[in-house]
Amino acid sequence: MKRILVTGGLGFIGSHTVVELQNEGFEVVIIDDLSNTTISVLDSITEITGTKPDFHQIDLRVKNDLKNFFDNNKVDGIIHFAAFKAVGESMSKPLDYYENNLGSLVYLLQEMRDRKLDNFIFSSSCTVYGQADELPITENAPVKTAESVYGNTKQIGEEIIRDASTAHNINTIALRYFNPVGAHPTVKIGELPLGVPANLIPFVTQTAAGIRKELSVFGDDYPTEDGTAVRDYIHVVDLAKAHIAALKRLIGNSNKETFEYFNVGTGRGTSVLEIINTFEKVNNVKLNYKIVGRREGDITAAFADTTIANKELNWKTEKSLEEALESAWKWQQKQS
Ligand SMILES: NC(=O)c1ccc[n+]([C@@H]2O[C@H](COP(=O)([O-])OP(=O)(O)OC[C@H]3O[C@@H](n4cnc5c(N)ncnc54)[C@H](O)[C@@H]3O)[C@@H](O)[C@H]2O)c1
Repeated sequence: MKRILVTGGLGFIGSHTVVELQNEGFEVVIIDDLSNTTISVLDSITEITGTKPDFHQIDLRVKNDLKNFFDNNKVDGIIHFAAFKAVGESMSKPLDYYENNLGSLVYLLQEMRDRKLDNFIFSSSCTVYGQADELPITENAPVKTAESVYGNTKQIGEEIIRDASTAHNINTIALRYFNPVGAHPTVKIGELPLGVPANLIPFVTQTAAGIRKELSVFGDDYPTEDGTAVRDYIHVVDLAKAHIAALKRLIGNSNKETFEYFNVGTGRGTSVLEIINTFEKVNNVKLNYKIVGRREGDITAAFADTTIANKELNWKTEKSLEEALESAWKWQQKQS
């Protein structure tokens, strides 16, 4: 049985990936410092799969703790989710973001180099493309100057991985996520935004629940069909499964390059107004929203061309936007 280290494994995407890994027969060991989650997620994962993953509360920035972990644990691959992810906060705390998102990455790769470990998967983001010149966005689209510190950590992260994987022969895949949404069908795990959510769907569900008075739609004068911004919303379970596909590619030595990167999205663009309408319809609730001016830094439209990912990873999305929005609402209703 292959043993996989999942950093940030108690977070939103990490927890869903741990479930899929266990379902596929992998043994999982999680590192998380609980900076953006709670320990109860470990019990929820156990309830879903029937198996409690090994868990280590470690801050990846503490190099010695990481070294101790690897002294005592053998792993066959690493999926690295742990990072700070709030775009706005990254602008006011750039050094914290660079330290956590890049420092932790370097320490992990150093351990892999020193111990001759292989198979590394990195959480990248479609933010690397900025406002792409052509839609849908293929992997060949150029990486644009990052609009935020957070986005920059993903770009530099990919560069670090490219250099390290080539020099030290570590097989790696960066998955460029589009917009992950939804919750597990059991509604036992989901997204836990701390404070005011910066992403659309948690804001939608919190508005429907009465936690937020009103949802602001930032701009209705974009050059899109209804004037609101367009994104590619992928169900988190489909996204989690892309990691299993990438891991199998690495473990099976089917990768074509030492460093590869793939778009992980649905291939479908959805506008903010479409999200609102679909959410209202599938959940039979009314959303209080108003159109306001554009938000600085927002792009017009981004959605993936998934042709390469579908073929190379032998993976495709299976869940609908309706399922994602239904599960997100059920998850919200479970939160007190
Ligand atoms: N959610 C999105 O919209 C999105 C989109 C693109 C990329 N990503 C990336 O995917 C990854 C996972 O995102 P998520 O939405 O699950 O975030 P999340 O905050 O829910 O999960 C990250 C987890 O990492 C942990 N963590 C953070 N710093 C740590 C450290 N130094 N040591 C140990 N644990 C640490 C947190 O406690 C948290 O549980 C991140 O790298 C994020 O940047 C997310």
